[in-house]
Amino acid sequence: LALAANVAGAQTYPTKPVTMVIPFAAGGPTDVVGRLLAQSMSKTLGQQVIVENTVGAGGTIAATRVARAAPDGYMVLLHHIGHSTAPSLYRKLPYDALNGFEMLGLVTDVPMTVVAKGNFQAKDFGEMVRYVKANKESINLANAGTGSASHLCGLLLQDAISTKVTTVPYKGTGPAMNDLLGGQVDLMCDQTTNTTSYIKSGKIKAYAVTTPKRLAVLPDLPTTREAGLPAFEVAVWHGMYAPKGTPGDVVTKLNGAMKVALKDPLVIERFAGLGTEPVAETRATPEVHRQFLTAEIAKWKSVIEKAGVQPE
Ligand code: MLT
Repeated sequence: LALAANVAGAQTYPTKPVTMVIPFAAGGPTDVVGRLLAQSMSKTLGQQVIVENTVGAGGTIAATRVARAAPDGYMVLLHHIGHSTAPSLYRKLPYDALNGFEMLGLVTDVPMTVVAKGNFQAKDFGEMVRYVKANKESINLANAGTGSASHLCGLLLQDAISTKVTTVPYKGTGPAMNDLLGGQVDLMCDQTTNTTSYIKSGKIKAYAVTTPKRLAVLPDLPTTREAGLPAFEVAVWHGMYAPKGTPGDVVTKLNGAMKVALKDPLVIERFAGLGTEPVAETRATPEVHRQFLTAEIAKWKSVIEKAGVQPE
């Protein structure tokens, strides 16, 4: 009877709304990606996919919440590269980033941009580096907390220019952007899904994009490679997760709805305008996601150790 109920459950799943937990504040880059996916997945699943922003500790509060949720397919996590750096940045994570979740597939890789408040005293990357070096005691660099993509990118930037500055953590780079626009903070390394519109409007300054090639949406923005820092390259991959033990049929249904979303013309168009695109379908599978996450955890462990960053 239990088996029959289980099979019946998977076949009728979902029978109620699904919660998609976003580890950073509303209005930020992760939130933008999550809401676009949720909107499309709601149509495919026939139930509302409701976004819930659970912030704090660089995304690890949200990951803990989903790791502890019932494995019934009614709570999923949309996370990113921060899920692979957290094991090296937090001593006592209350979950296993790899084995504490079912992988639902990768979603998109988002470029990062080195940006500054509108009246920052530098017209290009070289001048920004010289100014930061000369004024490092008074420069504030915003991020979304230890383990966030903006934190990681800030580490790579400071390492690349051999200069440490004060960092200011926020609940997400949505709120951080408000302070950058207001001039309360000087610099930030953030994803194009958040910075593109402000760069285009001239409200903030942009010095480089962290991808090997320039972006179609920001053709005048040089790459870090052009700025002479080829090692300073990073893109923020995003993936979706369910609690460990979620039934295979439910994982398949969630992955299926996610793959439909990655082909949704609205999602593709919105991603394109924000400097990104859905991953190739071959990367949107749980198996590839698992292999990729395994490699990323190892990769960033050595980068973080080399950068001499102590875990919290
Ligand atoms: C980050 O890791 O920096 C986050 O993506 C910021 C955000 O989404 O608010």
